[in-house]
Amino acid sequence: MYQTLITALAENIFTITINRPEKLNALNSLVIRELGEAVEEVYQHAAIRAAIITGSGNKAFAAGADISGFAGLSREEGRSLAKEGLEVFFKIENAPKPIVAAVNGFALGGGCELAMACHFRLCSDLAQFGQPELNLGLIPGYGGTQRLTRLIGKGRAMEALLTGNLINASLALQYGLVNYVTSPEELLEKTKVILNQITSKSPLAIAKCIAAANAATGNEEGYALETEKFGESFGTDDMKEGILAFLEKRKPVFKGS
Ligand code: COA
Repeated sequence: MYQTLITALAENIFTITINRPEKLNALNSLVIRELGEAVEEVYQHAAIRAAIITGSGNKAFAAGADISGFAGLSREEGRSLAKEGLEVFFKIENAPKPIVAAVNGFALGGGCELAMACHFRLCSDLAQFGQPELNLGLIPGYGGTQRLTRLIGKGRAMEALLTGNLINASLALQYGLVNYVTSPEELLEKTKVILNQITSKSPLAIAKCIAAANAATGNEEGYALETEKFGESFGTDDMKEGILAFLEKRKPVFKGS
C-alpha cells in the first residue's frame, strides 16, 4: 500500500515502520507524504487505538530529511519543504490517540524532530539523537528548535543545536528525551506493553488528555520563525557548500556568506 512505509495492525496497535534502510530511513518528500497518510489512518480507523513509529533495519530510526533533495532548492522551496514536514508532525502531535516513537538507531535532524513530535519516546541502547543541521550550513526545519528546547531545556538544547553533537541513549534518558532505554530486541515489546496499558482506558478521555497536555507547550510564533530562518538558509553559499560537502563525503568549508 505504501512505497516507503510498512504498516501493521495487531491488538489495536498500528505500527508504522519507515522502510528505506539503505538510506538510513532518510525522510524524502514521499516518506513525509506517506507518514501523513498513515497518521490519517490512525485518526480515521476505530480499530486503531494507538500507534508506534519506528525505523527498519538496526541502524536508523531516520537519519534526517533527505539531504540529496536539498541541492538547488530556492528559499521559497526551502520554506515549503519545512511547512510540509511541520504540518505532518503537528498532525502526529495533535492526534487523538497516542503515537509513540520506538527509536531503534540514529534519530538525526528530521528523524529527531519526528521522534519529538510523537507523544513520548522509547529507544534502544543503539539509538543516537541529534540535530546536526548546522554541519550543513542549515538550521532544523521540522520543529527541532522548538521541541528540543521544551523537552530537554534551553541550555542543553542550545548546546546540541549549535554543536550538532549526538546524544546517546543513556544521555537521552538522563535528559528526559526518552522515557526508557531497552535492548534492540525488547524495544517494540516494551512500547506495546505501555500502549496496551493506555488503550485499556477510555478513548474519549485519552483524546481530551492529549489535547490538554499539548496546550501546555504550544507556541505558534516559534515555529513560524524557525520556518523563516530555515528558508533563509537556502539562499546562502554556506548551505550550498554544506550540502555539497555531505554528498561528496568531505568536510565543508564555511565562509559566512
Ligand atoms: N539524507 C540522504 N541520505 C542519507 C542521509 C540523509 N539525511 N543520511 C544518510 N544517508 C545515506 C548516505 O548518503 C549513504 O548513502 P550511499 O550509500 O548511497 O552513499 C547511506 O545513507 C548510508 O549512510 P552513511 O553516511 O554511509 O553511513 P555512516 O554509518 O557512515 O554514517 C550518519 C551515518 C548518520 C552519521 C551519516 O549518514 C550522516 O551524518 N547522515 C546525515 C545526518 C544529518 O545531517 N541529518 C540532518 C539532515 S537535515
